[in-house]
Amino acid sequence: MPPIHILGIESSCDETSASVCVDGRILSNVIATQEVHQAYGGVVPELASRAHIQHIVPVVDSAIQQAGISLKDLNGIAFTQSPGLIGALLVGAGFAKSLSLALDVPLIGVHHMQAHVLANLIEDPAPSFPFLCLTVSGGHTQIVLCRSPLDMEILGETIDDAAGEAFDKSAKMLGLPYPGGPLIDKYAASGDPSRFHFAEPVIPGLDFSFSGVKTSILYFLQQATRKEPDFIQQNLADLCASIQHRIIEILLKKLKIAALETGIRQVCLSGGVSANSGLRKSFTALGERQGWKAFVPRFEYCTDNAAMIAITGYHRFLAGRFEGLDAQSSARGHWTAEG
Ligand code: KG4
Ligand code: ZN
Repeated sequence: MPPIHILGIESSCDETSASVCVDGRILSNVIATQEVHQAYGGVVPELASRAHIQHIVPVVDSAIQQAGISLKDLNGIAFTQSPGLIGALLVGAGFAKSLSLALDVPLIGVHHMQAHVLANLIEDPAPSFPFLCLTVSGGHTQIVLCRSPLDMEILGETIDDAAGEAFDKSAKMLGLPYPGGPLIDKYAASGDPSRFHFAEPVIPGLDFSFSGVKTSILYFLQQATRKEPDFIQQNLADLCASIQHRIIEILLKKLKIAALETGIRQVCLSGGVSANSGLRKSFTALGERQGWKAFVPRFEYCTDNAAMIAITGYHRFLAGRFEGLDAQSSARGHWTAEG
């Protein structure tokens, strides 16, 4: 069988990305990050759509060039269909539809969260099926049971904020700029994680909640700065370490239960928050204690990227799961059992 070339396109939020995957191997992964949002303290949907329109042609061009192929080699065009910012999604969808029509190759719709899980298949060694994946990003926190590339089940998810939001909102309370997650990580490195204690949520099953922790941090800081206005500056490292410690504890406690309940010992991390050095260290240590085979994709495959869209597209191509040119994009995008 001749090699299968898939182009992946990701445009769900503030990263415009394109990637070429050949027979499941990633040959390029080009990512244009939108700096325009920094001044606003968060992603501005309208600006995101405009930036995607500016970036998408050069980004796809570079991905094709870096892979050393030409457009006519492509056998399928995969794009992020849901979930995401609707205006941003439509840019990638419109581009993918046009290219699939022009090249007369199948169009493949990809669920962004399923792609985060399958990012783990890019690396060598890759987990074998079934595996568990904790996906932690700015918009989502999920524990997924992955039985095959097309068969996934959400075992637990956040009922309020995502883990990345918990990091970013806590950072904002500490006066740190957006996105604050990486800064909390940086300051936490020299802090004492046991110095301050923040509320622990009591949520049944495998779901998560971060709103209680957020409120407890807010009340604590309000009280402390009333007594000592420079409290945050004087205790920044310990505050960051204690906040990070609590968020990681919440995540790993549920992941451990999921592994015990399912008996699955291949466990993965994905999503932008898996860049957190404390989370990586605690995840690896927990894996060793529990006897897991633990996997974390490299950083460029953890944050939003098109390589994960391309590899998911490749598996959908093999299964003949194609979309028509009338494919609808969806901001929420529900998750069907058959993927
Ligand atoms: O997956 P991602 O790049 O974008 C989506 O949300 O889909 O995740 C971004 C999130 C942000 O909330 C950011 O603060 C967080 O990942 N993040 C981190 C770190 N690096 C990125 N959080 C904690 N520690 C980090 N080192
Ligand atoms: Zn994402």
